[in-house]
Amino acid sequence: MSGSTLYLVRNNNGESIKLPMFISQADMDLIEKEFVVQDGDVFVTTYPRSGTTWTEQIVHLLVNNGEQGEQRLTDAVPWLETLPHRPNGMGEFLKTMPPRRLFTSHLPYSLMPPLNSSTAKVVYIARNPKDVAISNYFHVQSKANYEGTWEEYFQLFLNDDVGFGPYFDHILAWWQASQQDKNILFLKYEDMIRDHAGHVAKIAAFLGIQADSHLIDTVVTLSSFKSMTSQETTNFDWIPQRAGVPKHFRKGEIGDWRNHFSAEQSQQMDDLYMKKMKNSGLQFEF
Ligand code: A3P
Repeated sequence: MSGSTLYLVRNNNGESIKLPMFISQADMDLIEKEFVVQDGDVFVTTYPRSGTTWTEQIVHLLVNNGEQGEQRLTDAVPWLETLPHRPNGMGEFLKTMPPRRLFTSHLPYSLMPPLNSSTAKVVYIARNPKDVAISNYFHVQSKANYEGTWEEYFQLFLNDDVGFGPYFDHILAWWQASQQDKNILFLKYEDMIRDHAGHVAKIAAFLGIQADSHLIDTVVTLSSFKSMTSQETTNFDWIPQRAGVPKHFRKGEIGDWRNHFSAEQSQQMDDLYMKKMKNSGLQFEF
């Protein structure tokens, strides 16, 4: 993947955002024109590789009283940006979704369909930039046939030449929005790893779901890394992935960046982090 394989979309502010090439301007136009947020909708929204799949599973289980069901996770919690690619089109697919509709999205705040006065909610998961960068590097190898080196990918990431645009802009815009809007819950991957059950309870409360300890325990068990990699409906084995490189579920840990970043790369990211996050009130421990 390089800059030339990314698709440019003009956002509401007149700025361009880079999306993966399989998401087109026509897809974004259709979503903008025809996708209407409904009361009760839940969006799991993230910058890619920040814990989207994990949180989808938690939300899916909470909304369905701990029952996994038969659907694959990508059907139970479909990806908003690819709804126009559903075999019978976006409109027909949406008709098949029961309320409370669950979606996933990687869109920046400026491109998300507005929640307006609905009771829809967004659970936004952010992850530290170093683990996000390294996780995305393996992801594009596996899913987009990226053949560059880590050093090359690191430069693409620093230059914002990757899908879904600049990492820091993404998380900071959602962070600021979450400070104004009680229907946006901003969580961090690292906190979820350190206190899985506490975050399941927090998400349940945010969604207005009465979760007793039995439901919390069930959701924690079925959303563990081990369980998700072994269940057919959650392991993502149905998604084409290149052999010989890590799969969708890779390590699921904090700090794997230490095994890949050089001291110089780490310093470069630290400098950028300090510059971007200064005065934001948001910080990561990694
Ligand atoms: P790593 O590549 O660091 O292992 P996304 O779903 O947004 O694409 O994020 C993928 C990242 O979340 C991967 O990180 C993956 O291993 C991790 N992940 C997925 N399920 C998880 C779980 N149940 N617990 C912890 N981490 C999980």
